[in-house]
Amino acid sequence: MVRQEGHRRGGVGTSLLTEHAAAIAEIAGAVGTPVYVYDADAIRDRYEELQAALEPIPHRIHYSVKANSNLAILGLLRRLGAGADVVSAGELARARRAGFDPADTIFSGVGKTANELSQALAERVGLVNVESFHELRLLHEIARAEGTVAPFGIRVNPDVVTTTHPYTQTGDAEKKFGAPLDDVLPMVRWSLEELGLELLSVGMHIGSQICEAEHYREGAEKLAHLVCQLLAEGVTSLRAVDVGGGLGIRYRSERPLAPQAFAAAVRPLHESTGLPLVVEPGRYLVGNAGVLLTRCLYRKETGEKEYVIVDAAMNDLLRPSLYGAEHDVAVVSSEGVGDGALPGPRSPGRDRVDVVGPICETGDFLALDRELPDAVPGTLLAVLGAGAYGFTMSSSYNSRPRAAEVMLEGGRWAVVRRRETFEDLIRGERLLEDVERDLTEQT
Ligand code: LLP
Repeated sequence: MVRQEGHRRGGVGTSLLTEHAAAIAEIAGAVGTPVYVYDADAIRDRYEELQAALEPIPHRIHYSVKANSNLAILGLLRRLGAGADVVSAGELARARRAGFDPADTIFSGVGKTANELSQALAERVGLVNVESFHELRLLHEIARAEGTVAPFGIRVNPDVVTTTHPYTQTGDAEKKFGAPLDDVLPMVRWSLEELGLELLSVGMHIGSQICEAEHYREGAEKLAHLVCQLLAEGVTSLRAVDVGGGLGIRYRSERPLAPQAFAAAVRPLHESTGLPLVVEPGRYLVGNAGVLLTRCLYRKETGEKEYVIVDAAMNDLLRPSLYGAEHDVAVVSSEGVGDGALPGPRSPGRDRVDVVGPICETGDFLALDRELPDAVPGTLLAVLGAGAYGFTMSSSYNSRPRAAEVMLEGGRWAVVRRRETFEDLIRGERLLEDVERDLTEQT
């Protein structure tokens, strides 16, 4: 039995719940809650859908590892044929562990350390996207010291203002991301004349959860113009243009961009430059393929409010607290204990409740103002659209072990990350007595 909050029409992730209702209930029972469940078939479908839409354009999909970096998910995307887009040594190591060819990996990111650049070069990643003169110089120095030539691209800030949440807008000139458009030609001249380095790619990533083709069209036009300028300068080394990720998905009422509309918006960039395109989607591939299962602990009324208190919290899924993100919540099974036996007075359930976690923060909520009359202690709920930036943004705040993760494949399922334990939480920490011994030795 799956009933979606507000009786809204079947939304993202509901197919996972309806098609695999038995497995979902079994997972919650066997693995416990909170638990993330990812549908491998849904990821496959999304990947193939995007591939098909981009088919007419020479292109390469590099999965943005930050969206969901579980090794099994990475393995799945690698097998589907994706390359990887990473932004830290940790993500690079994950991609490697999951079997991605380093040559098929792009190292992006606004503040790579010398160690990270060195590791990227040692592993022979296919491309390092730099964002400033300083970074280009450092990359070059490290490469020279190691006797290699840096495979470098430039992430450009195309000054495109998107309409997504301010925290996920990255393409306007005010943001920290990318090299300013005006810096690109001087950077390329400098790299050629002073460093002897050839530019392999220029690219952008204008933001995340983008639902309007216009933003991509505008960015693509600016990149096309830039490539023309580079060609006019005699730069012949370009191998690709990177249009970034950012494709939006439906969480509640959004109207996401069809992949065909995205393809149509970026296609002119290929047509005018003759270069293949690189795309770096994260959320689009995995977001709707995942749910966060959580069990209702209590239901209570305080003053004007009614709360459903669940066993997942902002440490498990930060998006509602951080961005005010709205995820649909579905009742998976209402085998709750109800409240018939409670002694105290209780007014009839209100229409709307806030779904909150156990963390000691008023900002700890998963959903606000929702119709969930069926949610009583014991009820199993699913927070939908949780496959991207769910587990990867989770923490152990309030010393809450991070949730388990499960992959569903057909009707079968397997744990792909076990729930953390108390020992996991304190790994690397030391008792005061041991610290004091060290301190005494120093005196
Ligand atoms: N490429 C680069 C260089 C990126 O920085 C990102 C995401 C992507 C690709 C993939 O973007 P996607 O296709 O997943 O939108 N935590 C936020 C999203 C932050 C995205 C950061 N960069 C959220 O939960 O909405």
